[in-house]
Amino acid sequence: MIIPSASPLTPTWLRCAHLVNPLGVAPDRIRLSWVLEGAGTGRAQRAYEVHVTGPETDLGGGQDLCWDSGRVESSCSADIGYAGRPLTPGGRYRWKVRVWDEHGRASGWSGPATFEVELGRTDGWHASWISPGRIRESISPPGPGPVDPLAMALSPAPYLRRTFAVAGPVASARLYVTALGLYEARLNGHRVGDTVLAPGWTDYARRILYQAYNVTGLLAEGENVFGAILADGWYCGFFGFDAKRAGAHYGTAPELLAQLLITYADGSNDWIVTDGQWQCALGAIRHADLLMGERHDLALEPHGWDAPGFDAAGWRPVRCREHDATPLVADPGPPIRVTQEVAPRSIATDDHGRHIVDFGQNLTGSLRISVDGPPGAHIRVRHGEMLAADGSLYTENLRTARATDEFVTSGGPQALEPRFTLHGFRYAEISGYPGDIGQADITAWVAHSDIAPAGEFESSAPWLDQLFRNIDWGQRGNFISVPTDCPQRDERLGWLGDAQIFARTACYNRDVAAFFGKWLDDVADAQLPSGAFTDVAPRLTRSGAAAPAWGDAGVIVPWTVWKMYADTGLLRRHFGAMTAWMDFLERANPDYLRARELGNSYNDWLAPGPDLTPPELLATAYWAYDAALMAEIADATGRPDDAAGYRALWSKVRAAFTEAFVASDGQVASGTQTAYVLGLHMGLIPDELRAPAAEHLVAAIRRADWHLTTGFVGVGYLLPVLSSTGYTGVAYRLLEQDSPPSWRYMVEAGATTIWERWDGWTSDRGIQSPKMNSFNHYALGSVGEWLYRFVLGIDQAPGTAGFGRLLLRPHPGGSLGWARGSYRSVRGPVSSGWEYSGGRFTLRLELPPNVTASVRVPSDDPAGVRDAHGDGPAMTADYPGLSGAAEAVFEISSGTHEFRGAALQPPAVA
Ligand code: BGC
Repeated sequence: MIIPSASPLTPTWLRCAHLVNPLGVAPDRIRLSWVLEGAGTGRAQRAYEVHVTGPETDLGGGQDLCWDSGRVESSCSADIGYAGRPLTPGGRYRWKVRVWDEHGRASGWSGPATFEVELGRTDGWHASWISPGRIRESISPPGPGPVDPLAMALSPAPYLRRTFAVAGPVASARLYVTALGLYEARLNGHRVGDTVLAPGWTDYARRILYQAYNVTGLLAEGENVFGAILADGWYCGFFGFDAKRAGAHYGTAPELLAQLLITYADGSNDWIVTDGQWQCALGAIRHADLLMGERHDLALEPHGWDAPGFDAAGWRPVRCREHDATPLVADPGPPIRVTQEVAPRSIATDDHGRHIVDFGQNLTGSLRISVDGPPGAHIRVRHGEMLAADGSLYTENLRTARATDEFVTSGGPQALEPRFTLHGFRYAEISGYPGDIGQADITAWVAHSDIAPAGEFESSAPWLDQLFRNIDWGQRGNFISVPTDCPQRDERLGWLGDAQIFARTACYNRDVAAFFGKWLDDVADAQLPSGAFTDVAPRLTRSGAAAPAWGDAGVIVPWTVWKMYADTGLLRRHFGAMTAWMDFLERANPDYLRARELGNSYNDWLAPGPDLTPPELLATAYWAYDAALMAEIADATGRPDDAAGYRALWSKVRAAFTEAFVASDGQVASGTQTAYVLGLHMGLIPDELRAPAAEHLVAAIRRADWHLTTGFVGVGYLLPVLSSTGYTGVAYRLLEQDSPPSWRYMVEAGATTIWERWDGWTSDRGIQSPKMNSFNHYALGSVGEWLYRFVLGIDQAPGTAGFGRLLLRPHPGGSLGWARGSYRSVRGPVSSGWEYSGGRFTLRLELPPNVTASVRVPSDDPAGVRDAHGDGPAMTADYPGLSGAAEAVFEISSGTHEFRGAALQPPAVA
């Protein structure tokens, strides 16, 4: 039933390149989106009109209409590409949109949103790279006592400054800044912005990101000081385990590049840039490293150095270097920020006076400690994810990452916190603290790429809600400029395999479009001349072709981002890279069985027990999957010939797979759960053998006493495959399994994130081998996708992208009495909640305007299911795996909906 709407639709949440009012966007990334608000059912956008005006200055102007889309008959509200006059680099633009609704009524114009265009990648920069040069080499004196070789490899963080005059009233000021290494920019004693670890990580030889800040409020007439502190970061600090080059992956010392544009009220401009007028010195930060941590000697801080009136005698000139041709790119991703503070849950003190602080949550960040007392206290903070059996801090699994921050106090009240490092920890050990320490003296700061939450989930099972939170904490702790594997040990790399299996979960949890958009540039930058993607991006120096399921991320992740966010711009940008990868695979494997160029072949990484899945089976399945996704990608970007080519390729690879690995009774070679899951998920089992293959999969699970045996690669598709083949009951049995290997076991063992290994800790053996045992790795959390798409039933209609047309098909089961949650899609929030009570099933749904859905209500009496108006279903259908109608099918549009009926009693699983 359609309820007539009272008012026109309102466009809100205007975004450009997935960001709200970005200060720097590359022209080819300017794609606009909005979300519609409006009460009532049947709400839909029939047409839109976009106006873009500019470029503008703070002195007015900018009224020129650069693009009037005209009235466009379309329901699209995302991925609207700019198609107006060429935009000016560095220019500021405003845009607004109005829409026509289902009755043809126009909305008012939206409030304006803004975007600023990226500076010219090479010609927009007038600054020089500056660095301390000689001064840097002449410091680092070894302290008293034995020489610590690691400390010798770490360098102090240089401070750089210059003064400049502001000659009159300022209308506006923009700071554009980047570093090879990490920077913290300062203006007149204030920190600029709130980003951490800027400019983030890229392959600095190929692309350097910069950030733009509005600093109008930080300038004052008269003398001003522009300063920056630099640190090694990814550029020349430690990460990864490439021991030979550890600590100097891209260069040997950090450098700064910045330009400050001041626009005076009289219309004149002034540029203050990094150049030979800058000076440098050292300060309190004696070293700062992502893996090793930081050391501050607070007595050495040149107080007031970044503010006017400071005596810079003794500061030395910087060394200058002209910028080369490396593109300087406006950061397309969300900045890294501190997003939360966590108070200690408890503090225990050992016989040596060391305090063990438990934050109750494994997180990524650092500590802030308040101290007051005489100078010279040496406070040391070590971080770890676990405690050893004797209650001491367990750090062996960090391998060579020292994860230690040290502070030598200078007396009086002080706040101690590192600036250029992050640690993965739940516990911290604090030693050397003068006097008593209380909970109020300590806070953990949580930091990561600041990506807005999009998904919610809760249910009648508290342990499952904890699993859901653990998945999100794992994502937060590892999405740090790139999707890393883990935040604690000496690795922290952008592993492609982990990212692809988790990508869909990541999208449901948080609004990762811009984040993945940035990282996919890193993936393309890392691609080898052969067309091979690499295992990690940004890549390590000696990277070869990626392993199966790792390299395939180069296709799967763009496809996933398009599917979730309708971002065809991303597909276009990466089409060349993706086809080069496909060509590479085909050249290497002319008989369509992917048996060559398997790189490091990690196979079904960390599968419990022996990993028996044949590497060629896994590889060929992923190749076929790539081909199928490429066909969809080609269609979505208007390339029908390519689409046909990839469909043909898919048929050939599928045929080779079937021939090599699928028996006539539906058995798949090796019989591992992963072999069945891949064959079924990727559509490689002939239709008539799907049901027998699914039965064999269930038999394999039964043989494992209702445990999973999948590693990183099989795990993400395991429960979706079971639900899609009619075995939701088995999926719940695995979900609710409480002995290892299982998700529930981790949760009940006290996990607050997702572990790298199913057996990271077991009650009989304790902590696994420290060689490779992270307690914060997100890959096994890829079960999150199933919670959203199957338990809540928030999914898209097959073959669609961008959440305009949905399939809402909850899969209740297990011991859950109710579940509810939501997903804030590009078209607005979709929510779903269901409950069982007294043999009855109730489903409540809410859709935003401009979305329609087919709803499937599971019921033993589907014809008897009613909506809130007493209307029955449009039709009944089979529930997955159950023959005989067991689903009531309704068609719905925007608004709230409720359905009630007899509950479905699925067959028991035994
Ligand atoms: C990483 C993984 C990664 C794997 C490759 C590990 O060291 O932590 O997450 O995917 O290597 O197999």
